[in-house]
Amino acid sequence: MKKTEKYVLGSPLNALNVSPPFDHYYFIDLDGEKIDFLRDATKDRSNVSIEVGDCNSILLEKIFPKVKYTDFKRGLCLLDPYGLHLDWKVLLSAASAKSIEVFINFPMMDINMNVLWRKNPEGQDPLQIERMNLFWGDDSWRDVAYDTESDLFGHPSKYYDSNRKIALAFKDRLKKIAGFKHVPDPIPMRNTSQAELYYLFFASHKKAGYDIARYHFEKYTKFGASGWQQNQK
Ligand SMILES: C[S@@+](CC[C@H](N)C(=O)[O-])C[C@H]1O[C@@H](n2cnc3c(N)ncnc32)[C@H](O)[C@@H]1O
Repeated sequence: MKKTEKYVLGSPLNALNVSPPFDHYYFIDLDGEKIDFLRDATKDRSNVSIEVGDCNSILLEKIFPKVKYTDFKRGLCLLDPYGLHLDWKVLLSAASAKSIEVFINFPMMDINMNVLWRKNPEGQDPLQIERMNLFWGDDSWRDVAYDTESDLFGHPSKYYDSNRKIALAFKDRLKKIAGFKHVPDPIPMRNTSQAELYYLFFASHKKAGYDIARYHFEKYTKFGASGWQQNQK
């Protein structure tokens, strides 16, 4: 919500305005106020379904089953939680359906603030570790994030201060573990102070979708204000 107390339809409005349009739109949010606003904004449309609740169960139980490859249905799923709120099972299910392409906001800021501790990684809050495991699909992120070799006892002693390394390891999982055929390198989304808040991913079984996403990712990286500045250094 902006300070004016007016909701601004971001990605939902963008999705509704794409041309050619999709046959049907499904919007899900846990936040009842956002859902009320979306219901009001889309009340004249017959091809919009809105659900209030946890997208992890709603996608798996209600929506993905409607997008069957064998029924010639295809779907594009935008997963953009603020933080580590996504269940890896959603990505596994989208990949195994073969009919669903996904955009994912990988929540780098939440991970850096709450999960990866530079000092004393052993002292992490178990609840934060659980959130990361759920998003990542297991606890193998530790092998990427921490340098265990320098500790005689095999305990993680520090983490590599590289968001990109962690993001690229997640890309590997999307391909090798989930089974998406095509995953371009993700792009960092920064705030005005250049801090990386998210990495934007795209994953697909179709080369055409991959080519389009990669084209836009590269264009953003070259000409987007923050990416362009970074490339000049
Ligand atoms: C970054 S905002 C999405 C903004 C939206 N895409 C837009 O452009 O207006 C993240 C949203 O995810 C919702 N959310 C977080 N976890 C969720 C979950 N498990 N299921 C459904 N919605 C969730 C939050 O309530 C919040 O509204």
